[in-house]
Parts: sequence; structure tokens; C-alpha cells
Amino acid sequence: MTAIIATPAVSAATSTAHADVLLQARGLNAWYGAAQILFDVDLQVHRGEVVALMGRNGAGKSTTLKALMGMLAKRRGAVNFMGRDISKSEPHQAAALGLAFVPEDRRIFTDLTVMENLAVGRQPPRRWPDGSEAPVWTPERLFKLFPNLGEMPQRPGGRMSGGEQQMLTVARSLMGNPFVVLLDEPSEGVAPIIVEQMAQTIVELKSQGVSILLSEQNMHFAELVSDRAYVLEKGQIRYSATMAELSANEEVRRAYLSV
Ligand SMILES: Nc1ncnc2c1ncn2[C@@H]1O[C@H](COP(=O)(O)OP(=O)(O)O)[C@@H](O)[C@H]1O
Ligand SMILES: [Mg+2]
Repeated sequence: MTAIIATPAVSAATSTAHADVLLQARGLNAWYGAAQILFDVDLQVHRGEVVALMGRNGAGKSTTLKALMGMLAKRRGAVNFMGRDISKSEPHQAAALGLAFVPEDRRIFTDLTVMENLAVGRQPPRRWPDGSEAPVWTPERLFKLFPNLGEMPQRPGGRMSGGEQQMLTVARSLMGNPFVVLLDEPSEGVAPIIVEQMAQTIVELKSQGVSILLSEQNMHFAELVSDRAYVLEKGQIRYSATMAELSANEEVRRAYLSV
């Protein structure tokens, strides 16, 4: 199938490395068992960016995030994070470097309270390579971002709504003071009010210096928060552009997205 390419997805990746590229994949391939799911995925996340990884159900969005994080048994290709090769790293090693992953199936500890869930995610403060301090998160700061969590610090995770659990999952990963957060379908399966709050949260995180790569099928949500977008189909990047260009490109949206 011929790809509709406005900006080749590899153009930036093949030029000399930018100092502000935090996360980069080149020629990323991944398998579940014998089935190859990702084919030569190239992508980059720069400092201060929110990037949307778009595509229909089954396109390979979650697999891409898992492959970046090192959660798949079989992957091949280059993955670089903050100047380090993490293509052979375990998920906990990537996390220790400041790469966070928020899965779509909200894995909070249902027996633990909000505060205890947050404590589990705590990691030491970090510095940017230039020596400046990276954003440091505490429960107090997170409760400003997620006021409804602040109203239930002692509530067990199992007694929260799906939307509250979603918020807690994001908050817990921020306790690791990540440079980049991989956010899998933040708008999926939660009430519109939570979707709205999640969009505000992402915009706020960006303003605090956290970069985000989010997977998304919801064009409206992606438009609200994203600077750039990659469009996946059948495990391949078919299109890469600014979010505004994707919004304006009806042909690509009709070909690869449900809008
Ligand atoms: N655990 C798994 N085992 C085997 N195949 C899987 C597994 N998870 C996903 N797949 C397949 O990989 C492809 C991409 O899935 P996924 O990355 O979850 O897509 P998306 O997140 O874009 O909806 C789909 O064809 C899906 O059926
Ligand atoms: Mg998915």
C-alpha cells in the first residue's frame, strides 16, 4: 500500500542528533510470538513536546509504547533515551532513567490508598543534562494538578471510579519525576469530564517541562493537547506532521483514522 507522506517520518531522525531530542526510535520492530506487529517505526520526542501517536484500533499504538519501554519479549531496532541506548534495557531500567509508562489498563494497587500508591512511585529528583532541575513531584503538588485525588488521600484504589484510577495512575508515574511520559490512550473509556481534566493535565504537565508521547484514537483530544502527530497503520508510520497539518489533512484522516 502506498503511504501518504507529507513529511517523511525519518527526516529528522536521519539528520544529526538534536540536543533536545529526548526519546528516539529508529527502525523499531516488535513481535508477539511469531507475529510481527511493528515495522521499522521511526519517531522522536523533543524536550517540551506533546506528541500524539494516532491510529485505529489494532494499528500498533500500545505495542509501540511497550516496545519503547522494553516490555516486549522480542524487539529490534534502536531506542535512545536522553542520549543512552535503551534498546536492550528492561522496563525498570528505562523507568530509572526517567521514562514513565502509563498503561491503558490502569494498574494501580487496589489495596493501597491514594497516598500509598503515590509512595510506591517515588524516585529521586533528577537534573537535565545541562544541570538544571527537572520537575519534582510531591503528593502536594500532584493534588493541585488532580484536586479530586487530594480529597481522598486515604481512599483505597479499589474504591475509586475508573476516572479517578486513571488520574492516580498518571499521578503515580509522575512521582518518579520523569522527563518523558508514555501515555496510552488517556481518553479511552473514561467519562467526558475526566477526558476534559486529562487534557488540562497534559497541557499543565507540558508547561512544567514534562514531555509526553500519547497514543490516541480520539482526534479531538489529540488536537487539544498535541504539538505533533505520527499516524500508524498496520504497525508502520504512514504520516508524520504537526498536529495542525494533520487536522487540516482530510485525506490522511480518512485513510488512517476514523474521522
Ligand atoms: N498480547 C498480544 N498478543 C498477540 N497479539 C497482540 C497482543 N497485543 C496486541 N496484539 C496485536 O497487535 C496488533 C497491535 O495491537 P495494539 O498495539 O494493541 O494496537 P492499538 O494500541 O493501536 O489498538 C493487533 O493486531 C493486536 O491484535
Ligand atoms: Mg492500544
